Amino acid sequence: MQVDVLLGMQWGDEGKGKIVDVLTPKYDVIARFQGGPNAGHTLEFDGKKFVLHTIPSGIFHEGTMNLIGNGVVIDPVTLRKEIYNLIDQKVPFTERLLISRKAHLILPTHRLLDAASEKAKGKDKIGSTLKGIGPTYMDKTGRNGLRIGDIETPDFKEKYEALKEKHLQLLDRMNYEVDGLDEMEKEWMESITFLQQIPFVNSEYYINQALQEGKKILAEGAQGSLLDIDFGSYPFVTSSNTICAGACTGLGIAPNRIGEVYGIFKAYCTRVGSGPFPTELEDEIGQKLRDIGHEYGATTGRPRRCGWLDMVALKYAVMLNGVTKLIMTKADVLNAFETLEVCTSYTMNGEETFEFPFDHANQTIKTNCKTIPGWNQEVSVDKPLPSQLEDYIDCIEKETGCQIVIVSMGPDRKQTMIRDNQPA
Ligand code: GDP
Ligand code: IMO
Ligand code: MG
Repeated sequence: MQVDVLLGMQWGDEGKGKIVDVLTPKYDVIARFQGGPNAGHTLEFDGKKFVLHTIPSGIFHEGTMNLIGNGVVIDPVTLRKEIYNLIDQKVPFTERLLISRKAHLILPTHRLLDAASEKAKGKDKIGSTLKGIGPTYMDKTGRNGLRIGDIETPDFKEKYEALKEKHLQLLDRMNYEVDGLDEMEKEWMESITFLQQIPFVNSEYYINQALQEGKKILAEGAQGSLLDIDFGSYPFVTSSNTICAGACTGLGIAPNRIGEVYGIFKAYCTRVGSGPFPTELEDEIGQKLRDIGHEYGATTGRPRRCGWLDMVALKYAVMLNGVTKLIMTKADVLNAFETLEVCTSYTMNGEETFEFPFDHANQTIKTNCKTIPGWNQEVSVDKPLPSQLEDYIDCIEKETGCQIVIVSMGPDRKQTMIRDNQPA
């Protein structure tokens, strides 16, 4: 068996949560492989809406195991809150959720360090979600981190104190005033105790054994390819490998075990936080996309920046991830547009380029766009697609060389059109 991967092609919020939930009945295991509570994955069904941050989006389905992999960073406080929401819904979470012993823990002081780092950067701040992601991955690669498995060791508290002390020294050097830490710590420790009812596993063995037993596994990405630490719009990125390779290191699966790679993208583009965004529309068209698409962050509530579809960026993401199938979301948001634009190349230093640049932050990028007719009508899963939408899909398929196998037309589970070649 192979592990299928579903991941974002843009700057996150492509609708991963919704689509993973839709695909879950075809899988035995859904596994998150990177990121942490910076993610906000929204699911809607039966008139209810849920936002998951750490928990994989298969959790609402009976018979599917949900694994938080070693590549994920976990804030016990956020995770406990997510679980409280599951308890409200009578989801038997102890039977459906597993946590890797090798996943790293976000400490309260990691969050403070995130805030201190952003404050120090001033106008050049990353626009981090302030969830402590960067500092936690820094401690991981710096070989200082605390992991889930440490909770089971007798000297966990001492390890915690030692790391906290290091952080406090750093914060002091950054002239960052620490406030309310006792309260945060108390909540954190209580959450650690709470989490111990979820099985901690050697997840690399779990997942490889599941593969051997012929189980179907879907790896769920967080963020998007353009936020990847290596290949995104650095330094305005997150601190993990969001691309397909991250599924191997974040779960302990070998590259030759990767099956389908589903690349998910919005029919337009959004970005939350700072950093370059070549097709951004800072005018009334951008505002129209934001209003119709309800483009406000699922984790922070910040307004998302909006712009037209960027084929240079999409093709870059298809290349980096070895995408085999594409999924397009939020097609319905474009219903009210008579014409659409698609960026087909950039001009930099007077030269046309089809490549995502090394550094867009410090140079002017002119986007070269083509105007295409919009469908300018309601779309629905019960009706054939308007010809202009078919043409839009055709154009993207030709440019990327990948088939679009799902078109999403609304936030609800049911507002999903599976196109002829059935995925999974
Ligand atoms: P994720 O982080 O990739 O899971 O995406 P988010 O949940 O952060 O953001 C996607 C938003 O769009 C959520 O509010 C979804 O409910 C919503 N959504 C997903 N698919 C569609 C769609 O096809 N149409 C519309 N209108 N909304 C959608
Ligand atoms: P999902 O999984 C959109 C952005 C932040 C910021 C940058 C770094 O819901 O698609 P971080 O807190 O990771 O240090 O922030 O990355 N960012 C996201 N943007 N969706 C996300 O996740 C994001 N996770 C991080 O806004 O610009
Ligand atoms: Mg999101």
